[in-house]
Amino acid sequence: MKFFVDTAEIDAIKELHNLGMVDGVTTNPSLIAKSGRDILEVTREICDLVDGPVSAEVVALDADTMLAEGRKLAKIADNIAVKVPLTWAGLQTCKALSDEGTMVNVTLCFSANQALLAAKAGATFISPFIGRLDDINIDGLELIEDIRTIYDNYGFETQILAASIRSANHMSDCAKIGADVATAPPNVIKAMANHVLTDKGLAGFMADVEKAGIKIL
Ligand code: G3P
Repeated sequence: MKFFVDTAEIDAIKELHNLGMVDGVTTNPSLIAKSGRDILEVTREICDLVDGPVSAEVVALDADTMLAEGRKLAKIADNIAVKVPLTWAGLQTCKALSDEGTMVNVTLCFSANQALLAAKAGATFISPFIGRLDDINIDGLELIEDIRTIYDNYGFETQILAASIRSANHMSDCAKIGADVATAPPNVIKAMANHVLTDKGLAGFMADVEKAGIKIL
């Protein structure tokens, strides 16, 4: 499973990228607003840093303006994936941009039918939002399973990009289901390293290091 990092914070991307943990980056208008940076400028900086796909989201609601925005975003770098919402206008924009050879990430997906439409419209990525479904007591992981089944049934090449990931367990659950990509905030990716027994075991080893005066350097 590929790891995308869901942030527009350059330092956080750099830290994970240096560890080989970043196969791509996703941003959205809320993350851009949080960064306090200009969208074009920060997106360019991220594209310079990371080789993999960098999702940058349009902000218009009608297809014509979305398309114009998408074309402008696509000019930033070859690794831009234009992110469009899963609306009818978003699907129209997805089809037009993918026909032009631009990667498209269709976002705000909350149903298997929406994912089916995005695949038909030529999406490179579909972004089902797990956490926001869990928030309203609908099983977000079940949606990932359903999309996996449907895409595999018909050989759709659209990649399942699990999004709105809130916990380390979401990451392993998505990997078990076979999501192609999971995008998560930096703190969730880091939390994957944590285990209480690792901490406990290390504390025991350190106590023995001190008792025996073990030195390597
Ligand atoms: O990738 C989409 C993500 O940014 C949304 O996450 O936690 O705001 O639902 P969240």
